[in-house]
Amino acid sequence: MQTHQYDVVIVGAGGAGMRAALEASGEVRTAVITKLYPTRSHTGAAQGGMCAALANVEEDNWEWHTFDTVKGGDYLVDQDAAEIMAKEAIDAIIDLEHMGLPFNRTPEGRIDQRRFGGHTRNHGEAAVRRSCYAADRTGHMILQTLYQNCVKQDVEFFNEFYVLDLITDHDLSTEDMADGAEVNATGVVAYDLATGEIHVFQAKAIIFATGGAGKIFKTTSNAHTLTGDGMALALRRGFPLEDMEFFQFHPTGLAGLGILLSEAARGEGGILRNSDGERFMERYAPTIKDLAPRDIVARSMANEVREGRGCGPNKDYVLLDLTHLEPSHIDAKLPDITEFARTYLGIEPYTDPIPVYPTAHYAMGGIPTNVEGEVLRDSHNVVKGLFAAGEVACVSVHGSNRLGTNSLLDINVFGKRAGRSAAAYSKTASFHDLPADAADRTIAQLDEMRDRPEGERVAEVRKALQETMDANAQVFRTKESLDQALADIRELQARYKNVSVQDKGQMFNTDLLEALELGFLLDLAEITVVAAINRKESRGGHYREDFPDRDDTNYMLHTMTYRRPATAGDTVDGTVENYFDHVEEFGDYKIVLGSKSVTQTRYEPMERKY
Ligand code: FUM
Repeated sequence: MQTHQYDVVIVGAGGAGMRAALEASGEVRTAVITKLYPTRSHTGAAQGGMCAALANVEEDNWEWHTFDTVKGGDYLVDQDAAEIMAKEAIDAIIDLEHMGLPFNRTPEGRIDQRRFGGHTRNHGEAAVRRSCYAADRTGHMILQTLYQNCVKQDVEFFNEFYVLDLITDHDLSTEDMADGAEVNATGVVAYDLATGEIHVFQAKAIIFATGGAGKIFKTTSNAHTLTGDGMALALRRGFPLEDMEFFQFHPTGLAGLGILLSEAARGEGGILRNSDGERFMERYAPTIKDLAPRDIVARSMANEVREGRGCGPNKDYVLLDLTHLEPSHIDAKLPDITEFARTYLGIEPYTDPIPVYPTAHYAMGGIPTNVEGEVLRDSHNVVKGLFAAGEVACVSVHGSNRLGTNSLLDINVFGKRAGRSAAAYSKTASFHDLPADAADRTIAQLDEMRDRPEGERVAEVRKALQETMDANAQVFRTKESLDQALADIRELQARYKNVSVQDKGQMFNTDLLEALELGFLLDLAEITVVAAINRKESRGGHYREDFPDRDDTNYMLHTMTYRRPATAGDTVDGTVENYFDHVEEFGDYKIVLGSKSVTQTRYEPMERKY
């Protein structure tokens, strides 16, 4: 076992992690630990753009951007955070440009901007051009640019190191803590993929930037590696997850595959059509049609299919029509996604519309933080020395439905803030002694799994999990479907206890790591479904057919979900605010559902129409 000491340790080298690293590493000794080579991080799969009210091509301002974000999130957005994000968006774009990002340009040489869903002029009047982009490879360009700047700044990376535990001085997964009592994050335990060796990192400040958990679903735009590691580790250490019931289904996944076809296709003029050739979004969102927010477009598509207007032999998808666009325009603005259609479906987008269906894309929920990136351990107390940014976190700027291009923005604005906060914190804090047995839990877990001679296959348990999530917790949900998903997950949790791996070796044992990632996925799927059962209303990405209306009287609250031992108290910190008063017992542990109020500043909730 090796030990290391850094002022700041960042877990994850996607956009949020590397943006944080650029802030922290100039100030204090910083390490970035990543389970991938940095430029393979999932930020690289983001396509259409990063929004900011630059007003380079038409009138715009950050206040309209804030309003669109709040309305797009169905008013569950914390409005102070959304305002910060929209204001700081402009500098975030300029920062990237100065770092060398090759944005598309207007003929006058300014950064070009395109339309995206839910981004409007003057509070909903018409779609506005707010998204800055680099063809349909914006995330790829951001990731490369940030990495090059990290290299230039000598940021220290530990590549292909899997963080498997978070060390804290109080374990809230077993202890009941009084309100206000101090809890410190003191280090992480990591596994070196190349050697199988355990490394313990002692740190004054730790930033989780590990991304999302889309692999709880079968049909997803997410990479194989998006297994919710950071979220699950926080949950297992007794910290809450916020708003996990809200998962975004991107409307245009390649049908049957889930591979992302950027919303930029509609921003550039693409149209969704049903089997009658009808531009059906005119019925669902008469003002901005195909550029309505994603929750509305995804539900409309699923509804067309349900009502028999789907396309293809099984009538199970709709069509994205680009055939009216000039091929030269398609080639200049949408080169990658049109190539995906050719490669994976054999469709020529110049002449034929592309089969599409919603695909699991983005977790609106995650580890709760304040706007400085500090992690909350309940509805108001922070964990000292623990920060989070990007999709793993819930600030909450996306509420119950994120607008397209607000995610690349989120990672840049809140990655930078988290890096700055962690560096500042580490300058005043001291190292905490780590217990001698800090890595024992991780070593025991690895040994147990590796030593089990035979048992359940990881791939089979994972497949069953993803299938029940697709069948029962997707765009449309009911109590019955969610109960079914929960029963299936419980059965899979039991099977997981007996999972075994074929590779018993130390070096590059991806078999072992996939087994550990499956454990994260099961924990997160369970939390997602329990939170979805509890929220008896429809809002943003969470649509309950048995409760089709938004219910601001009872549910204008963030959900805070805690996993506690069966023997622990139910009230988490004794002062949980607006407690949902709901506990699910699962034998040796229970899931406690608390809540946190939504910050409303300028905008009164109103009916969401487009
Ligand atoms: O459609 C897209 O290009 C995805 C963008 C996003 O999720 O923000």
